[in-house]
Amino acid sequence: MLQDKITQYTTEINDFSTENVEELEQFRIKFLGTKGIIKDIFDEFKAVSPEEKKTLGKVLNEFKQLAENKYQTLKEQDKSELIGKDAGLDLTLPGSGFEVGARHPLALVRREIVDIFSKLGFVVAEGPEIEDDWHNFSALNFPEEHPARDMQDTFFIKKGGEHGDIALRTHTSSVQVRMMEAGKPPFRALMPGRVYRNEAISARAHCFFHQVEGLYVDENVSFADLKQTLFYFVQELYGEGTKVRFRPSYFPFTEPSAEMDISCTICKGEGCQFCKFSGWVEILGCGMVDPNVLENCGIDSKKYSGFAFGMGIERIANLKFVIKDLRLFSENDARFLKQYKTSLI
Ligand code: PHE
Repeated sequence: MLQDKITQYTTEINDFSTENVEELEQFRIKFLGTKGIIKDIFDEFKAVSPEEKKTLGKVLNEFKQLAENKYQTLKEQDKSELIGKDAGLDLTLPGSGFEVGARHPLALVRREIVDIFSKLGFVVAEGPEIEDDWHNFSALNFPEEHPARDMQDTFFIKKGGEHGDIALRTHTSSVQVRMMEAGKPPFRALMPGRVYRNEAISARAHCFFHQVEGLYVDENVSFADLKQTLFYFVQELYGEGTKVRFRPSYFPFTEPSAEMDISCTICKGEGCQFCKFSGWVEILGCGMVDPNVLENCGIDSKKYSGFAFGMGIERIANLKFVIKDLRLFSENDARFLKQYKTSLI
């Protein structure tokens, strides 16, 4: 009787096959579970005669082994497939791919500015962030008592030195000086870089920011050249129809000096919070290089003239991307940075 059962179940086990986790589990419960067939058979086995036990014992153990082996093999076979089906996943679907990194909004803007000016023949030049008084101030015609030299604006590092006190540069105009000292006109260069000012950090000010300086020195360079160059730049960067206006201003190193506004790109000149309802936003300082500066750098100011301009590119990026808090640029919050993945690439 018991032998018949075993023979019958042996066939069933041998014939059994599945790729389905549910079915496999049912198989386990049916044969190997605590209330399963094997348990029943072993219970029945206790009641058989001692002679029968001898032959049946071996058969029974083999039968149990068979069920266990079957279960193990099916469990192991193509485990990934079983797991996949179990979790309701379709493993034949293509993978999700790698996340592409994003460019920093300031890097995007800097690159776009460099691209625009390179079409006009401007090359990129760089200089040190740790500067001496001569390159950051004196050569640029800053009078001795000028407030910008004050501790309030400048991070001083060391007193004295061959070219005066050592400080973190407060503007990229220092690179103008280095360039003019090192070479001969004509110069047509763009000088991007980080600058430092001792200011309290807020949404509108930071102790460091980024500038792009421009310098053009040659024979017969005029204010008209400056205006046309900057006008072209604005049309390229913000689109045709963006208005510009120049307001007289003062910088020690340019004469005459001006500040340039553009029609607010956020409200299109209608008036909004960003432009303080004026319709205009200031984006840069500029002017004709002061003859004193040319002479300080060993350039004949009777023969050569030039223009220079400088802009903070956080401001340019604010207008481009409508970013209201300066601090976002340096906090490295991936949620912020990720947004610029596709823009301007
Ligand atoms: N260096 C000036 C600043 O930091 C900007 C500027 C550059 C103005 C060149 C005129 C010419 O504000």
